[in-house]
Amino acid sequence: MAFFRTLAAAETVPVLNGDSVTLRVPQMSDYPAWSALREQSRSFLQPWEPSWPADDVSRLAFRKRLKRYVRELDQDQAYPFFVFRAADHTLVGGVTVSQIRRGVSQTCSIGYWMGARYAGQGLMTAAVRTLAQFAFGHLKLRRIEAACLPHNAASIRLLEKTGFKREGYAREYLCIDGAWQDHLLYALLRGDALR
Ligand SMILES: CC(C)(COP(=O)(O)OP(=O)(O)OC[C@H]1O[C@@H](n2cnc3c(N)ncnc32)[C@H](O)[C@@H]1OP(=O)(O)O)[C@@H](O)C(=O)NCCC(=O)NCCS
Repeated sequence: MAFFRTLAAAETVPVLNGDSVTLRVPQMSDYPAWSALREQSRSFLQPWEPSWPADDVSRLAFRKRLKRYVRELDQDQAYPFFVFRAADHTLVGGVTVSQIRRGVSQTCSIGYWMGARYAGQGLMTAAVRTLAQFAFGHLKLRRIEAACLPHNAASIRLLEKTGFKREGYAREYLCIDGAWQDHLLYALLRGDALR
């Protein structure tokens, strides 16, 4: 039953083809590649992410993650994607549109991570561009927000090179790597030039 629900929700979301990357909703068959990549990238990712639960890369945790994704997709709350290198369909990272606010807001947040061995090759730049087109086009949102730690030079560069504008500084905005930390706030509007 859960399997059919997964299929139904995932099938409503198109596969997104970008420049050098393909974005697709995660599925159970991604587990081996995903768990290996996350495990190999643990020390690269942990300073920039919420603390990983002890069982984070287990098969059971991945199954629970997929169930949450299905619920959020069904409710138009979040759209998670895995990022594949287009040339060989290798799983390289993930990007998510989350915290969708409709009504008078029509705004979302985005988050992203890249496997350590694939960082610095322009793949996340291509993925964020593709995701932004999806958010403004398919989802008809008009504002995309992103937050990053003030010392995350790679994330700042990624946001600024894709056209995000710095809008502010939020004190103790998110609990990252076990500590409430200040963040820079960025946004891209539908009318901004996506670079
Ligand atoms: C941030 C992240 C997703 C970027 O992914 P990526 O695939 O490496 O991104 P790209 O290669 O498309 O672009 C990264 C840009 O940052 C630059 N960059 C990378 N490390 C940098 C550093 N330490 N200082 C300054 N610039 C840096 C790259 O040179 C590139 O810019 P360029 O194209 O002008 O040369 C990846 O580094 C990552 O997962 N980091 C750890 C987790 C994380 O920070 N998540 C986001 C939390 S907000």
